[in-house]
Amino acid sequence: MEGYHRSVLLKEAVDALVVRDGRWYLDLTVGDAGHSIEIIKRGGKVVGIDVDPQVLKRVQRRFKDLGITEDKYKLILGNFRDLKNLVSQTELRQKFAGAIFDLGVSSLQLESPERGFSFGKSGPLDMRMDPSLNVEASDLVNSLTRKELYELFSKMGEEKYSWAVAGALVLAREVSPITNTLELAGIVERVVGGRRRKISAGKISAGKHPATRVFQALRIAVNDELNALKEGLSNSLDLIEKDGRIAVISFHSLEDRIVKNTFKTWEIAGVGQVLTKKPIVPNDAEAAENPKSRSAKMRVFKKL
Ligand SMILES: C[S@@+](CC[C@H](N)C(=O)[O-])C[C@H]1O[C@@H](n2cnc3c(N)ncnc32)[C@H](O)[C@@H]1O
Repeated sequence: MEGYHRSVLLKEAVDALVVRDGRWYLDLTVGDAGHSIEIIKRGGKVVGIDVDPQVLKRVQRRFKDLGITEDKYKLILGNFRDLKNLVSQTELRQKFAGAIFDLGVSSLQLESPERGFSFGKSGPLDMRMDPSLNVEASDLVNSLTRKELYELFSKMGEEKYSWAVAGALVLAREVSPITNTLELAGIVERVVGGRRRKISAGKISAGKHPATRVFQALRIAVNDELNALKEGLSNSLDLIEKDGRIAVISFHSLEDRIVKNTFKTWEIAGVGQVLTKKPIVPNDAEAAENPKSRSAKMRVFKKL
């Protein structure tokens, strides 16, 4: 088995929650529970939610291995967009002292080829975090029109060469359906890689694989990530007590924009205060040690 997910902005995020002894916190993207474990170490208790059943099983084991007793945590399978329903399944009736969202996928998901998240490993074009969802990435790639693919890659991936990529995919699937991650990555690379190379004379932007944006767009669409984030944020605000904080770590500009605008709207409505005028980002040491953290941005809101 691969090692555990390396938590991003671990200290900064848990510091931002100002953990109080014996109080309950929401970890809405529990993953490998790095943030949860740190909250528990500092005296808090955690309701950990994840939409992926494999992830939850692994956390359960990790907590047991660490000797964390069940009075310190509750784990719930589900999407944070349904947060209120999920929490009502527990006997906890009080409000929470804080909440953390650490968006995106965990290393376990990214590094499991059969999940289809990685453009670097051969696997089915799946990309569902929640295996009970009906639509996989391959369904989108093989059924959307060129215009729909173009819109998807432009809006959800901010891919500059969306039209060309969409055209290449429509052509390729005429021969046979595109069902494999490497096959998709190869087609995108042939279209995008060449164009970027021409512009930047050999430098593909800052180490990003040419298929990064297309994979991002498909993952967002398959998991309806942006709508889930909007709903999850709004539900979390209602469940947090006065002075409680909500910390959100995001990994691309679409998510960050939603977090920034939501917090701003809340502040204008007088429900609380944005504590991060500028987002908190990993320091040089973290960025060097964990390159995947480099795109992370954290914003924190305090409810009044
Ligand atoms: C980046 S990982 C979290 C890592 C964790 N903070 C740690 O330190 O180990 C994100 C996790 O959130 C889960 N996730 C993403 N979107 C979700 C959603 N809408 N509802 C519930 N879980 C979600 C993923 O399945 C994944 O396990």
